[in-house]
Amino acid sequence: MKPIDFYRSEFISYMESKFVLREPVNLYEPINYILKLGGKRLRPVLALVTAEIFDGSYKKALDAALAIEVFHNFSLVHDDIMDAAPVRRGKMTVHEKWDTNTGILSGDAMLICAYQFFENYDPVTFRELAKLFSKTALQVCEGQQYDVDFEVLENVALAEYLKMIEYKTAVLLAAAMKMGAIVAGTNNQNQELIYQFGLNLGIAFQIQDDYLDAFGDPKTFGKQVGGDIIENKKTYLFIKAMESGSAVFKKELLDLYSIQPKEPEDKIEAVKSIFQESGASKATQEAIAFYTEKAFKILECLDITDDKKLILKEFGENLMQRTV
Ligand code: IPE
Ligand code: IPE
Ligand code: MG
Ligand code: MG
Ligand code: MG
Repeated sequence: MKPIDFYRSEFISYMESKFVLREPVNLYEPINYILKLGGKRLRPVLALVTAEIFDGSYKKALDAALAIEVFHNFSLVHDDIMDAAPVRRGKMTVHEKWDTNTGILSGDAMLICAYQFFENYDPVTFRELAKLFSKTALQVCEGQQYDVDFEVLENVALAEYLKMIEYKTAVLLAAAMKMGAIVAGTNNQNQELIYQFGLNLGIAFQIQDDYLDAFGDPKTFGKQVGGDIIENKKTYLFIKAMESGSAVFKKELLDLYSIQPKEPEDKIEAVKSIFQESGASKATQEAIAFYTEKAFKILECLDITDDKKLILKEFGENLMQRTV
């Protein structure tokens, strides 16, 4: 095994070799733009690392990793349209820099490109990967639909929220890891356990994304801080604040979430202070730790050496510390 940075840079070189500018420029330029904007490259790194953890070669996982990362970036382009988000990775979103139609079509093309990378596998592996991918991609759409449906609901039960984030976010991290396991040819039990590890890590990851969306540092976060509040998203913070038991906080929050001011700064500040004072902010941080720990417990059952478990554990611990 090599350090995590090695897999990240191998992945980036591979991706850059596959994406050169083609015509029509208005279709491919936005694709190259979003793919080269950076990002943590979490999912592809997890795919490559998982392949090596199960004694495969990361090289064999490169196409699956690329498919996952291109799909992820496609979902971001469309998500930013749906969330009316102006900034992504510290730069203009695709639909802001070009326009909505460009974002729609470039996104569609990325989804198709993602599938094409599976064609580089032998028929048996192709079938397994494509099957997992299709199932996962459909779940992501379902999660995204719940996320949007929830915007206009007054409140959402915690269980509904957890299902929504499992679908919109966690299944993709889980699938990335399972794909690494599939190309390494490990047994079904290991495949399922690593999927569950990725799923719980992904749940922690999305709860933290909710937290950072409100409390992240605008200088490092790379997205519009307060974007979820502007869009009345039913985040972990919101649900916990509603659950906190204070009728005053609850009423204030409902009032704030029923307005769409042109200058949203005051609304954002007022909602954030309710998140703090109601204890929702603290509960959110506890939930991030809870799901990360839940992932770590699954590691104990895996049939791999302790040094490999440690690599995955350190990866999870670093994720909890992130500011981006
Ligand atoms: C953003 O994902 C979308 C979520 C699921 C929260 P990332 O935070 O992994 O985005 P990048 O790729 O690093 O920019
Ligand atoms: C991300 O949800 C889920 C997908 C993109 C599929 P968010 O809407 O919270 O992601 P960010 O915060 O815009 O990255
Ligand atoms: Mg969004
Ligand atoms: Mg969204
Ligand atoms: Mg978010």
